[in-house]
Amino acid sequence: MAVSRGFTFVLAVCCYAAAVALLASADASSDFLKCLAAAEELGLPSQLVVARGASPSLFTSVLASSVRNPRFLAPGTVRPVCVVTPTNASHVQAAVLCGRRHGRSVRPEVFALVDLASLRAVRVNRRAATAWVDSGATVGELSYAVAKADPGLAFAAGLCPTIGVGGHFSGGGIGMMMRKYGLSVDNVLDAVVIDANGRLLDKKAMGRDHFWAIRGGGGESFGIVLSWKVRLLPVPRTVTVFNIWKTTQGAVDAVTKWQTLAPALPDELTIRVVVQSKQALFQSVYLGTCDQLLPVMSSRFPELGMTRADCREMSWLQSTMYINSGGASSTPVEELLNRTTSLDAFTKNKSDYVKKAISKASWEKIFPWFDVTGAGLIILEPHGGRGGRVNTIADGDTPYPHRSGVLYNIQYIAFWPTTAPAAVPHWIKNVHGFMEPFVSSKPRAAYVNYRDLDIGENAVAAGGATSYESGRVWGEKYFGAANFRRLALTKGKVDAGDYFRNEQSIPPLVTTN
Ligand SMILES: *[C@@H]1O[C@H](CO)[C@@H](O)[C@H](O)[C@H]1NC(C)=O
Ligand SMILES: *[C@@H]1O[C@H](CO)[C@@H](O)[C@H](O)[C@H]1NC(C)=O
Ligand SMILES: *[C@@H]1O[C@H](CO)[C@@H](O)[C@H](O)[C@H]1NC(C)=O
Repeated sequence: MAVSRGFTFVLAVCCYAAAVALLASADASSDFLKCLAAAEELGLPSQLVVARGASPSLFTSVLASSVRNPRFLAPGTVRPVCVVTPTNASHVQAAVLCGRRHGRSVRPEVFALVDLASLRAVRVNRRAATAWVDSGATVGELSYAVAKADPGLAFAAGLCPTIGVGGHFSGGGIGMMMRKYGLSVDNVLDAVVIDANGRLLDKKAMGRDHFWAIRGGGGESFGIVLSWKVRLLPVPRTVTVFNIWKTTQGAVDAVTKWQTLAPALPDELTIRVVVQSKQALFQSVYLGTCDQLLPVMSSRFPELGMTRADCREMSWLQSTMYINSGGASSTPVEELLNRTTSLDAFTKNKSDYVKKAISKASWEKIFPWFDVTGAGLIILEPHGGRGGRVNTIADGDTPYPHRSGVLYNIQYIAFWPTTAPAAVPHWIKNVHGFMEPFVSSKPRAAYVNYRDLDIGENAVAAGGATSYESGRVWGEKYFGAANFRRLALTKGKVDAGDYFRNEQSIPPLVTTN
């Protein structure tokens, strides 16, 4: 049916370029390139530097290989001067040092891109239930490596297999196990970072604030994180998944009830909702068997009408594939290792958090926004939990503040074919505007991993660094006021010169007392 076709299409583009770090602008780009060319002395082989001017077609293919949203390739989009593709830590250090020598700039249109895609090893320690994963690995590669080492272990992360670990962890990492185990960053134990001075630091050398900031403060502000040590989490050999569609009035009733029910369900049970084409798809992963799940569903959520026929029992690894592919159970788990993303649709995302359930009457007005097949959709991800972690960790323990009192996150996704102009359709701004009375306010919170430049961009202050005041506009929405201030103070300590920066990087705040 048309609806599921539209849906599969979206899932096929599911993911964004996260394994990429940007260096600050290079003043005289030619000096910067000369430095990189001479950087063999620093240990950076010249074949790992691809300059835009020197070999345009190679440059485009290297750039495209890590792009997840074709808007980054559309005409008129800023292109870096070069892409550096390091294969070890020394190469990253050399790139950072060249940028430092030649990179104090007021010309933000000129920059280098460090593509970490080749740094993607996953080393699992089964006995300790930990793993070291490099930033350039994808979430699919991490899940696969962990489950192959021990099917009784897993990691808490988002569903899209082609998301880069580096970007995903840098912003928090919400997913289908966060109610029981927390976000990805709640399970990060150590990390290796190249800082703005080209130094290689682990957790101990970084110090408390720096290690706090990289676990949710957004990518590209606090250095280039090369690897992460993570805690692995126990999962049963058999988990149970279902996909249940509800149409028209049944959809409105079920979503209305779901809002307060889903955050209060047992921590082992996560049900998220996709609203598209005036229908609602309830997608669930339960860390247990169908026999255990059925009585919970019939007593707590009879409106969904779930029966044994809806249950699919499988391994946890298969469940990530199943939910992500919209229920295509025949897809082999090896597809999780496929790093290629289809680039045939432009996308634009926005987000919200809901703390107070939206009334049924309001949902009746919200559903008609999703009447055009394929134009866009929302995904609702439940927070909450009883002994769970996403909501019991304090709002200031990591930069991700959307914890206690949050019922669910809303992700708005617009997508449109690359044969159309790259300009973002009005639909997504309009639906986001319509939702304002129903969602969190003062500030209207947003999830940093669903980057949205509409909520504010940095302005450059007199000293040449981005200004704290301009950053507060968007930063307090992503991190809350207290966390944003701590992030800015930390930036002031570790990168006062604002070397690592972009439109929404953390501005340095240096206090004189
Ligand atoms: C928006 O979200 C979808 C689904 O999670 C993803 O495929 C897409 O890459 C995202 N786009 C952007 C611009 O973040
Ligand atoms: C990285 O590779 C270069 C050769 O390209 C080598 O000289 C250097 O020692 C390597 N560094 C590390 C940390 O392995
Ligand atoms: C990997 O994914 C891409 C994009 O979805 C697809 O075109 C390609 O066929 C896949 N490769 C394999 C080996 O399945």
